Amino acid sequence: METKYIKVDISELNKLSEPAQAIRRGELVAFPTETVYGLGANALNVDAVRSIFTAKGRPNDNPLIVHIAHIDMLKPLVAGIKPDALKLIAAFWPGPLTLVFQKSPVVPPEITGGLDTVAIRMPDHPVALELIQKAGVPIAAPSANRSGKPSPTLAEHVLEDMNGRISWIIDAGSCRVGLESTVLDLTGDIPTILRPGGITPEMIQQVTGRVQLDSGLIDGRGTEKPKSPGMKYVHYAPKGEVIVVSGEQKKVVQWINQSARKDEAAGIKSVVLAAMEHLSDYTVHIGKAFGAAGHPEEMAMNIFRLFRDCDQLGAHKIYVEAIPKEGIGLAVMNRLEKAAGRKIVKLE
Ligand code: TXA
Ligand code: MG
Repeated sequence: METKYIKVDISELNKLSEPAQAIRRGELVAFPTETVYGLGANALNVDAVRSIFTAKGRPNDNPLIVHIAHIDMLKPLVAGIKPDALKLIAAFWPGPLTLVFQKSPVVPPEITGGLDTVAIRMPDHPVALELIQKAGVPIAAPSANRSGKPSPTLAEHVLEDMNGRISWIIDAGSCRVGLESTVLDLTGDIPTILRPGGITPEMIQQVTGRVQLDSGLIDGRGTEKPKSPGMKYVHYAPKGEVIVVSGEQKKVVQWINQSARKDEAAGIKSVVLAAMEHLSDYTVHIGKAFGAAGHPEEMAMNIFRLFRDCDQLGAHKIYVEAIPKEGIGLAVMNRLEKAAGRKIVKLE
C-alpha cells in the first residue's frame, strides 16, 4: 500500500478533506494530537477498527481510545454521564484526559476488547479536531507506533513504523505533551487513574475532590487482570537496555560513570539521559539532555524521541536519571519504569 504523507499547518486545515474521506471509507490515517500521534480509523466501522490491530501488530484484547471533536458525539457512545464526568469534561476537554465510561451498544466490541466500558477523549489539537469534524464520525486511535515501540511524537516516527501499512500520515510537527493521555476510570465509586499522563492526580483531585491511583501503579506490579489492559504489555521500550537510577544526585553520577566505564571497556555502547544542568558531570561518551532540571514537562516532551534517537545510535545501554514522581513527573517515571522492565537502581 502506498502511504500518502502531507504536512498540514493550522492555517490550511482544508487539506484534511481527503484524509477525512479516507477515514469515512474505512482506511487508516495517522494524525497529530497534543499527546502523541494517533493511528485513526472510523470507530463505527468494525473492519476498519480490526485493521488497526494488524497495522500495529497489537494484541486485540488491548482496547482503543475513541476520539471525539464535540460533546454531542459523546452521548451516543456511553450509557450515562455522571456528575464527576461533566465536571472533568468542563475542566479538561479538549485535553490529555481520557475518561472510561460504561459503553452504549453503538460501540463495537472490537474497540473495547470485549469490555463493557469505553475510553473516550477530545484531543486538544486543531488538526485532530478538524479531522474528526470533517470525517463526521468518532475516530478510534491508539498511538501510531508499532506495538512495543515508543509512542511517536513526530510524524517521522510514524513514517518509520507505519510506511506502507496505512493510507495517510498527517504531519503537523512535534506533539506538545509528548506522553499519552491520562486514563481515568469513572465507572467505580472513586475516580481511578489507570495510566498517568498530562492531567495529574493533583489536577483531577481539585475538580472531583477524590481520586486514586490504580493498585498496579502503586505497587509497581500489575494487578491480575489489569483494568487498563494496555498496561500489562511491555511498552515504550527502545532496543537498548534502559537502566533508571535514583538517589542522591552525586551518587547517581558516580554510579553511572562507573558503570559506563565498565561498559566502555567491554565494548558496550552506553548513553546517558540526564537533566541539562547535570550533563557535564558525566564522563560517558554520549550524554543527552532530557530537559531542564525541575521541569518534568520538558522531560515528558522529549523522552520518546530520545528513546528513538538511542535506537538510531545503536545504544546497548541507556542510563536515565530518575525524577520526582510529582506532577507530570509521575507519568514520566511510569514510562521510564516500563521501559526499564521495572528494574530501578535505588542508591541510598
Ligand atoms: O494520548 C493518547 O491517549 C493517545 C492519543 C493518540 O490519543 N492514544 C493512546 O492510545 O495512547 P493507546 O491505544 O496507545 O493506549 C490506550 C490505553 C491503553 O492503556 C488501554 O488499555 C486503555 O487506554 N484503555 C482503552 N480502553 C479502555 C477501557 N475501556 N478500560 C480501561 N482502559 C482502557
Ligand atoms: Mg500506545
